[in-house]
Amino acid sequence: MQTSNDVLIKAPRSLIHGDEMILLNKTFILQSLKGKDRLAIIEIGSQRGTGSTHRLCRFASQNNMHFITVDADENNAKGAAEIIAAVDNHFEAHHQLGEIFLRNYSKKNIGICYLDAFDLITDWPHKESTIESYKKRNAEFTNEAAYKMHLDAAQEVWDKVVPGGFICFDDAWKDNQGNWQGKGKTAIPFLLSHGYVINYYKKNSVLLQRAEKNTAPFNLILELKFLKRKLATFIK
Ligand SMILES: C[S@@+](CC[C@H](N)C(=O)[O-])C[C@H]1O[C@@H](n2cnc3c(N)ncnc32)[C@H](O)[C@@H]1O
Repeated sequence: MQTSNDVLIKAPRSLIHGDEMILLNKTFILQSLKGKDRLAIIEIGSQRGTGSTHRLCRFASQNNMHFITVDADENNAKGAAEIIAAVDNHFEAHHQLGEIFLRNYSKKNIGICYLDAFDLITDWPHKESTIESYKKRNAEFTNEAAYKMHLDAAQEVWDKVVPGGFICFDDAWKDNQGNWQGKGKTAIPFLLSHGYVINYYKKNSVLLQRAEKNTAPFNLILELKFLKRKLATFIK
């Protein structure tokens, strides 16, 4: 499915997933969203084995937020529906393209949007079932298509996130020249030119905040928590 002019990218080793980055920053996130009523968390790209949907919908439930997850793959969307129903039967799982869902989403009440959808083609081979999923819906499975999908999603969602709210990317990193790569290659520069700031970055996840007045200062406690978490995985 890869086109001849599509370059296979070498992704750096990931230190943290996007959903874990959201949870690591939860104190700052909740402080920033305090006083804003009945916000939504929207995940584009439901869990496929690693548990993001489960973790984020529990976080939404514990903090009085609505939760929506969207996936282009029918089986994945079905699996996500079962996961969220066990937490709160008002939560929503949609089988749809995320960028289309966001275009039609009319409320400006998003507290957190997690963008982890159209897969990249990297030096990590994909499972046959993943390749089949793109084939089945006639999607050109290329990195250019992944960049475009995440840019389209960012363009649809940026002004539906409340001021002070967040957009998080998984599989996005800065190269040695300081350019964004991966799923945020074109979406992150777009958001930075539309009032967003980088709040937290560790390979390969990025948390951006729609600037209000308070953006995150360097937070020593958070850095220590991150190191503790890393040490724990080395010791295991
Ligand atoms: C990397 S997985 C998501 C992983 C999940 N967030 C986790 O951490 O477990 C990417 C998912 O995005 C879905 N996807 C691909 N293109 C999409 C699109 N345009 N809109 C919504 N979902 C899409 C795929 O079907 C796949 O399930």
